[in-house]
Order: sequence, then C-alpha cells, then structure tokens
Amino acid sequence: MEDIGYPHGCERQEKAVAQSQSSSNDEFQPSKLGTKEYWDHAYERELQSFYDSGDVGEIWFGEESMDRIITWLEMQKISKDVALLDIGTGNGVFLIELAKSGFTNLTGIDNSSTAVELAKAIAEKEEVMSLKLQVADFLHPFPKLSQYDICIDKGTFDAISLSPDHPAEKRSLYQQSLHSVLKEGGMFLITSCNWTKEELVNHFSEGFEMLQELPTPKFQFGGKIGNSVTALVFRRK
Ligand SMILES: C[S@@+](CC[C@H](N)C(=O)[O-])C[C@H]1O[C@@H](n2cnc3c(N)ncnc32)[C@H](O)[C@@H]1O
Repeated sequence: MEDIGYPHGCERQEKAVAQSQSSSNDEFQPSKLGTKEYWDHAYERELQSFYDSGDVGEIWFGEESMDRIITWLEMQKISKDVALLDIGTGNGVFLIELAKSGFTNLTGIDNSSTAVELAKAIAEKEEVMSLKLQVADFLHPFPKLSQYDICIDKGTFDAISLSPDHPAEKRSLYQQSLHSVLKEGGMFLITSCNWTKEELVNHFSEGFEMLQELPTPKFQFGGKIGNSVTALVFRRK
C-alpha cells in the first residue's frame, strides 16, 4: 500500500488544521480514505502484489496493534470459540493471527470485494481454512449479520469518519449497526488514530460503556504528550 501519512494513513493532523481554522469543527477534512473507490483500488494493487511476490500488504497500525488485542483477549481468558467479527477486515491478516492463536469462530466483513478476495487468498496460502469472510457494508448489512460476542475495528471507523459525504450520519449508522450485531454484554475493541479517547467515548456513549483503555505508544509535540493511536474496549449495555 502506498505511504499515505503517519501513522499508517492517520489523518489526525488534517483534523488539527481544520480545528485551528474553526473552533466548532468536529469533522475531519474529507479524504479519499473515506471512499470505497480508494479501498477498491488499494486492494487491487495489493492483490496483484500478493500474487506477484506474496506480500500481504499493509498491516494497519502495525503488528503491535494485533499483539495488543490478542494479549488482551488472552489475559481476559476469553473462550477460544467466542463468536468474533472483524469489521472492515481488509487483508484479513488479523483474523489469520487470531486463528493461529487458537480462536475458532472468526468472521470478517469488508465492503470491498477485492479486500475479501485478498483475505481469502492469504488465508488459503497460510492454510487457515476456518475463516468466514464476506463482502458486506457494515452500515447497511445485507443479509443481516448474525450476533457476535466480540467485534473488532482496526481503522474502519476512522476510514468511515473521513467520508466526503454525510460523515456524521455514517458514524451514527455505524453505532446503530454495532449495537445490533453485538450481543448484550459483548465487547467492542476499537483502535483509532483519528479520534481521542474522549471523542470515542462520546461517539459510543449511547448503548456502550468504556471498560478499559489499552496502552499505546506515546508521542511528544509542543511540550504535550499524547497518544498517536487510541485503543479502547467497550461493553455493549
Ligand atoms: C484502514 S483499513 C483497515 C483494514 C483492516 N482492519 C486492518 O487492520 O488492516 C479500513 C477498512 O475498512 C473497510 N471499510 C470501509 N468502509 C466500510 C464499510 N462501510 N463496511 C465494511 N468495510 C468498510 C475498507 O474497505 C478497509 O478494508
């Protein structure tokens, strides 16, 4: 995948610029990362590159983002047959890592059919045959998705938030969809580089409670220390 900024396509800086221009701006600058066309093209390139060289492409937020979540699941002693959904699974590498860690009931959806084709090709090469991989738009799931104990989002809510059209409406659809696919008491683990902890807690205040913030790398800028990536665990009420 092409280099589209730091970290891994994060457009927090664009938001900072937008906010410095308008004190009431709660939106990002719309970006190509918020369009389906962008992801279709990106995965077409990644699929070609996978067939040419075996390169699986971008691991969004890096390997450590997968390790962080797997460690959390293991520390909570989450049963290995828990029904888990990866929202916007991309190349599916995270699900493959979960399968290698022993998880057996894994589903990934993505609205880019090329992403799902790539995920299936990588899973086959890795001889991980148990994944359920489907093309589906999380904002308008059809057919209806079943219910899950755990939902994971690594960069998908960020991408949706960068949509050039109706981003606020899309965030609200996301929250509603998440509430309907997650079982009562189920866990939602989100990793974001575009939203702070406070902003995420606010987005998911209806129907969810934050349980835990997972430690992520910190950076220093202008004398202030912040996190370049936010990783939170929510529980569906
Ligand atoms: C930043 S990438 C992250 C991919 C993957 N989660 C990872 O960690 O590598 C965002 C993903 O969300 C997918 N996506 C965006 N909008 C979506 C939607 N409405 N429904 C399902 N997937 C979506 C994109 O196609 C892309 O694969």
